[in-house]
Amino acid sequence: MQTFQVYEQGSTVPEKSYNRGDWQRGYESLEKEFDYWIDDVEGEIPQELQGTLFRNGPGLLDIKGQRIHHPFDGDGMISRITFSNGRAHFRNRFVRTQEYLEEQKAGKILYRGVFGTQKPGGWLANALNFKLKNIANTNVIYWGGKLLALWEAAEPYRLEPYTLETLGKEYFNGVLSEGEAFSAHPRVDFSCAQDNGAPSLVNFSIKPGLSTTITIFELNTEGKIVRQHAHSVPGFAFIHDFAITPNYCIFFQNPVTFNPIPFVLGMRGAGECIKFQPEQPTRLIIISRNPKQKGVKIIETRAGFVFHHVNAIEREDEIVIDSLCYESLPEVQPESDFRQVDFDALKPGQLWRFHLNLKDETVHRELLVSRCCEFPTLHPQKVGRPYRYLYMGGAHAESGNAPLQAFMKVDLESGKQQLWSAAPHGFASEPIFVPRTPHIPASQGGTKGGEDDGWVLALVYDSEYHRSDVVILDAKDFHKEPIARLHLKHHVPYGLHGSFTSECFV
Ligand code: CO
Repeated sequence: MQTFQVYEQGSTVPEKSYNRGDWQRGYESLEKEFDYWIDDVEGEIPQELQGTLFRNGPGLLDIKGQRIHHPFDGDGMISRITFSNGRAHFRNRFVRTQEYLEEQKAGKILYRGVFGTQKPGGWLANALNFKLKNIANTNVIYWGGKLLALWEAAEPYRLEPYTLETLGKEYFNGVLSEGEAFSAHPRVDFSCAQDNGAPSLVNFSIKPGLSTTITIFELNTEGKIVRQHAHSVPGFAFIHDFAITPNYCIFFQNPVTFNPIPFVLGMRGAGECIKFQPEQPTRLIIISRNPKQKGVKIIETRAGFVFHHVNAIEREDEIVIDSLCYESLPEVQPESDFRQVDFDALKPGQLWRFHLNLKDETVHRELLVSRCCEFPTLHPQKVGRPYRYLYMGGAHAESGNAPLQAFMKVDLESGKQQLWSAAPHGFASEPIFVPRTPHIPASQGGTKGGEDDGWVLALVYDSEYHRSDVVILDAKDFHKEPIARLHLKHHVPYGLHGSFTSECFV
């Protein structure tokens, strides 16, 4: 195994890099919707940085004072940061789902959430009530001329990219049916062989049950679903993300069981009825992207619990996949308050590499990064292909579990890591890598100026001023101070995922 050397910037952070009270304030609701040019800027926004960063995440952590049980149950709010000619513009808007509108009008919680939010009135008010809220809060993508807010358990919501107005649910010309799932973790194959080298957006849906149906969707650049194929795998599956290569989709079926009874009785959210089974293996499910290839390959291994994958590549008889693994599922407890989480009592997510041998159906794994980390990202043209650099959120301290306060760059070739930390007052989120020179086709060499020639963009919550910053890091060197730090006029509650498009919406 490689040994990884960590280089840290000099810092004056006290022994514990954060204060839980500071961290908690990043989970205050942001009710107001803003629309302004960002004037308070430290450093300089690069002129070459042109395009739009979209972010999604729970904007409301309460409905008029009634607290929701878990951030994953919070109404989706889109933040949009547009970079144009050395300036940046901010806008945020809630996704006006049917349920958001109803609850805002009523001024109270009307729907149960998957992660334990219950209607007031105890279990009697919730029993046998299976009407969950489509909260559209997990990711936002711009694809085929459509801006889509994604939530894995139902259809996407389409938004107008200039105004962020909600246009309605998206069914892709009737390919999706009412309420059909469409995951929040699509992957873009920059040069899809099945489409003569044109980009393809690959996504999936999970239909749980005693056996699970996994459906693969591939969309062309016009946003049309051009390939769709469904596969059945044994057992219940809780799958949030997947990875792709030019030929395969790879899923990790985490070792969990689902007991619906407390949910049916109105005592727990559906997500709280999932139980991690540490003695059971993880099943790695490999599905061909070619719809004519029937059947799935399943290989068992020990992998703990996985929410997110970084990337996968094909190498001779192997698929190599890099994933963030937890020793167990961080379970949501019905009586607990997520704000009171004891970080030290939980195991950190760590970066592992899995080698799946397709010939002899064996797996071997190695630990690449032991520091607590989450929200990995990479060069958009390297998805499914050999790659050298990845970026992710990380804890300030090298060991133990803690909130994300830093950004890491990992060089998979040399094993070197770089860290830029916002501790003690700053709290990190998902970073997005933006290449300096986008849109160079793979046939013309793909990247130019090196795989790390570009910027890493991210929102950082600054608890000292109770506001969020848009941070622009030079992807080549995390040891340097950020190229620019854009101070917003307010905070943005900790978000989930987002994406960048080179089109400017303002
Ligand atoms: Co995710």
